Amino acid sequence: MLSTQDNELLTRVGPGTPMGELLRRYWTPALLVSEAPTPDSDPVRVRLLGENLVAFRDTTGRLGLVGENCPHRGASLFFGRNEECGLRCPYHGWKFDADGACVDMPSEPPTSVFKDKVRIKAYPTHESGGIVWTYMGPADKQPPFRDFGTEKLAPDQVAATKLHTTCNWVQAMEGNLDTSHISWLHQWNGVDDIPDDGSDKPGYPTNAMSWKFWKHDRAPRLEIEDTWYGFKYVGIRDTPNGYTHVRMSAFCYPYNTVIASVPFNTQHGLFVPADDENTWRYSFATRDQGSIAEVGGENLFSVSPFEFGPAEVGRNGIIPRRYTAANDYGIDRAEQRTSTYSGVREFISQDFMVTESMGPIYDRTQERLGTSDKAIIRMRRLLLAAAKRVAAGGDAPAVDGDLDYRSIRSAEKILEDGEDWRHLGTDDDPMVQLYERGAAATPVAGS
Ligand code: FES
Ligand SMILES: [Fe+2]
Repeated sequence: MLSTQDNELLTRVGPGTPMGELLRRYWTPALLVSEAPTPDSDPVRVRLLGENLVAFRDTTGRLGLVGENCPHRGASLFFGRNEECGLRCPYHGWKFDADGACVDMPSEPPTSVFKDKVRIKAYPTHESGGIVWTYMGPADKQPPFRDFGTEKLAPDQVAATKLHTTCNWVQAMEGNLDTSHISWLHQWNGVDDIPDDGSDKPGYPTNAMSWKFWKHDRAPRLEIEDTWYGFKYVGIRDTPNGYTHVRMSAFCYPYNTVIASVPFNTQHGLFVPADDENTWRYSFATRDQGSIAEVGGENLFSVSPFEFGPAEVGRNGIIPRRYTAANDYGIDRAEQRTSTYSGVREFISQDFMVTESMGPIYDRTQERLGTSDKAIIRMRRLLLAAAKRVAAGGDAPAVDGDLDYRSIRSAEKILEDGEDWRHLGTDDDPMVQLYERGAAATPVAGS
């Protein structure tokens, strides 16, 4: 439960709000590269942290991100002409370059120097991993770009997506820091029929067996460890054979989550506020995900009756929403009674159903938190403290250039006797070393 004041502080991200100022200290996803694919391609509307912006790729390939409304009399530059290294307003032809300078003002006499005095708001951009990132904070606080593993990614391994959700970013992110709900919301009856394949023993289970463990112990114990980037936490479950299964996820300031998978994971899910009541869920690859997934044998969806999202989703791009509040997320009451816990066929829409149905910004004075909510409580505390620190003149956490952002990993495993979950996914974890050494082809299933 939060006070009204803390709930406001946590959720509001517009210019001048404490949380908005904290978020502006980080390089932030603004759009997918695929939305502005080629020089002089169509301008793109970008709503980010409560600001209306327009992105355009100029003739040289440079990506500009400027205020949406023309400084002359406010027409939207989304309707502008993207031509000859600048975006030209459709109303009177004023033209702006990617730095925000007014480079042409054809509606004024040729002798006029007025254009030299006019600028439009422009934010710096950096393209990495299929995403156009921007920095919207004070220039003297601009940190180096945080490389989560995308900077040297081979072109054929770049894969970024985004999905729109109609609720506050913290509310959406809380779902990714809530390991307990995979034992409920995402379950289905057929889990009981999955044959035991022998991986209920210390080591790395198959994904099919993980489903069984999640269903077998539906009240996981949570443990948290604070880290330089935020924290990591585990949901600890007993397996049918009496072993200890851990599912470890990570939270990285300010809205990154790395979700547990077998044997470990470096792929981030980001909850980027468009504004206080709308969020983009970005996801991007940090490495060749396929080679790691081989250890688990299958992915999360291959053994379940669920689909992640619409089948027509391309390798890069915006994932369309088939199921929304308007069609009750496609809930099928007969399925809910007989085969799946939620009655919703699409996995991601199961999440949307619960987080969006809380309302655009949930009133957290009304909630009753239990022991399974430990991780979200920690996330809120860290964010509130960081926002207050920045408001008081301090620096944002986890922005330094000498930190190793690629070392942020999640993991999932059945622990050996006496094994401490805290070493999982670290540079010292033998499984991480195996893959980081480039030995990904070595079969290790069942080890
Ligand atoms: S409103 Fe844009 S040039 Fe006049
Ligand atoms: Fe979920």
